[in-house]
Amino acid sequence: MERIQKVIAESGFCSRRKAEELITLERVRVNGELASIGMKVSGKDTITIDGKIIGKEEKEYYLLNKPRGVICSSKDDKGRKTVVDLIETNKRIYPVGRLDYDTTGAIILTNDGELANKLIHPSNKIEKIYFAKIEGKLLGEEIHILEKGIMVDGEKLKPDKVKLRKYDAKTNVTYVTVVLHEGHNHEIKKLFEYVNHPVIKLKRESISFLNVISLKSGEYRRLSMKEVQRLYSLK
Ligand code: URA
Repeated sequence: MERIQKVIAESGFCSRRKAEELITLERVRVNGELASIGMKVSGKDTITIDGKIIGKEEKEYYLLNKPRGVICSSKDDKGRKTVVDLIETNKRIYPVGRLDYDTTGAIILTNDGELANKLIHPSNKIEKIYFAKIEGKLLGEEIHILEKGIMVDGEKLKPDKVKLRKYDAKTNVTYVTVVLHEGHNHEIKKLFEYVNHPVIKLKRESISFLNVISLKSGEYRRLSMKEVQRLYSLK
């Protein structure tokens, strides 16, 4: 048994809050009777909104190689392009977690709330690999500081690994790979700002076993059922 507003939201009809509004407006019925907010329903109950039966929505799962200049949300108040706009679907999908406006790379989108919650839950330590171009020459001792963990704005940030790929003396930039299991906002940018090497470019190369090597910027693909099952079984 689940709360009616959750079932309506999971059907893809509208958000949970909107469902509550519709219930208050007496537009929702369960087996012909007026619904109330919070009432529990099961798969056997028939839910109608304005007389139309709502059903379980088919789940969709995508992996997108996010381009720069696109925001990670389903809607933007300022009318900017969102990651959802890049995917052709009539389902109410949304991104799982966030990449900054100017960050590129791997992002999962789905309408499966259960999987999305599982993946973004802090206890779920999924490995993410980032490739960053940063200002200046990153020193061995700075890598050591970062890997030991730093405190920024009361938050402990501790990457699993910071690996120097290349230093380009001509342009005075360093290329690094960062492996993370946590997901603090702007984590990579905060890490490198702490050691005075602002991030110039940032790309998420992979989320666990999913990488975007075969996807061009802005391209996406559907996840296979096997991949979805693997995501569900991640610890
Ligand atoms: N860390 C950042 O600073 N930005 C991102 O988009 C992702 C991780």
